[in-house]
Amino acid sequence: MPSKLRLGVLASGGGTNLQAIIDHCRDDLLDAEIVLVLTNNPGAGALERARQAGIKTAYIDHRDYAAREDFDSAMVETLRAAEVELVVLAGFMRIITRTFLDAFPLRVINIHPALLPAFPGLHVQQQAIDYGARFSGCTVHFVDSGVDTGPIIIQAVVPIEAGDTAESLAERILEQEHRVYPRAIQLIAEGRVHVNGRQVTIAPPSPATGKALINPGLDDGIKI
Ligand code: GRF
Repeated sequence: MPSKLRLGVLASGGGTNLQAIIDHCRDDLLDAEIVLVLTNNPGAGALERARQAGIKTAYIDHRDYAAREDFDSAMVETLRAAEVELVVLAGFMRIITRTFLDAFPLRVINIHPALLPAFPGLHVQQQAIDYGARFSGCTVHFVDSGVDTGPIIIQAVVPIEAGDTAESLAERILEQEHRVYPRAIQLIAEGRVHVNGRQVTIAPPSPATGKALINPGLDDGIKI
């Protein structure tokens, strides 16, 4: 059996996306395991969720570092010590610098609660409502040095309904986040995600995953 992709999840808040990933790992739906949950907020609900699941945690206070780069170096050291292969930002409220990205090239992903490139940044559910958009949603993307600008892996579209508040819309978007984030991680774990500039392509599943090779082949129009 191939070894599992080692995930380091960075979270500053409640951690419902972390929970979705924990649940998918527990149910054996991911060829991945969370080896570390790292936070900059000792009160993060995500920490409690990690502890409940028996996952190792780390707390690094960004205020202890004069420069963003120094904070990032400390995180990189901690993630490397845990042999993290893919960094998953799940509500991590700090901007990541080149120092971090260079340590994990194309190995840092984020989820954003809007349909990028529309509404990057913060308070985006309210922005989408105020703008009068008919649809919003969520986007999983690779992280680059911009804010929510990296190549897009997967998106889910959620309609904005009359009377929606930022909270009601956020709730329906979160439901989709909890589906697409584990999915993106699994696609990466299967080695099916390829990046060429801004374009991300998803390779079809490997045909060699079945238990047999059949000859004559299966593409002869017979339905069984
Ligand atoms: C989510 O809406 C995510 O898209 C954004 O931050 C929020 C985190 O929520 N990046 P949670 O902590 O996973 O519940």
